[in-house]
Amino acid sequence: MDRHAIEPRSEQPAPIAARSAWMTVEPRDLAHHVSMAAAVSAPEANSGFDHLVDELVAQVDATDPRQAGHSHRVSVLATMLGSSLGMDQRELRDLRVAALLHDVGKILVPTEILRKDGPLSVLEAAAVRRHGIYGGSILRRIPALAFAAPAARWHHERWDGIGYPDGLAGNAIPLLARIVAVADALDAMTSVRPYREAISMQEAFMELEEQSGAQFDPLVVSALGPLVGAPGFEAEVAEVAGTVRARFSLSTAA
Ligand SMILES: [Fe+2]
Repeated sequence: MDRHAIEPRSEQPAPIAARSAWMTVEPRDLAHHVSMAAAVSAPEANSGFDHLVDELVAQVDATDPRQAGHSHRVSVLATMLGSSLGMDQRELRDLRVAALLHDVGKILVPTEILRKDGPLSVLEAAAVRRHGIYGGSILRRIPALAFAAPAARWHHERWDGIGYPDGLAGNAIPLLARIVAVADALDAMTSVRPYREAISMQEAFMELEEQSGAQFDPLVVSALGPLVGAPGFEAEVAEVAGTVRARFSLSTAA
């Protein structure tokens, strides 16, 4: 048996408010969601926990340097999405950390594959895709971070059930994973990658809307609309993510 295997239905979605409750939440302005993201990103009293998370993220950035900063931006985007969906502070803190660590499994993917220029072979692509399984397995073994394991394992699942690694569909995909999937795709499309140019936030949102109900949870995509449409959204995401990253760099500079 694969030692990394996790029974897909053995872990329940994070205990958060019912979907119907979110639908009634009054939409708030961008500044509110930015301030929520900044607030839950502030250093915790338990700095050992923060350092553990920050070190793991730094390892991901070092393993895949061309995508350095991706984890922090996805975390800010996901937290703002969670705020837009009406999550409370505790739920947002879990979401922030789960999003920061969604790609932690990359540290077990051979760097020569992760950093390869040009197209990947079928076997190499399969090795990269295993980062979700690896990430879930790593986090599940660390009691303080086990809550983040489902988002790591299932952030490449699709709403229509044809994603990976387990082919989960709809609400069977844990909510944190569904939110991270949207934030992950948004950052990927708006960042320069070796194989293509970045597109604008508005263009990326239109692509996400096209995939709403197919690749992505429609509710999560709908929560993104008011954020992307607000002036200064992209700059706010970059600023909060940059501030959090810089804080960790300073704390480890000595
Ligand atoms: Fe990923």
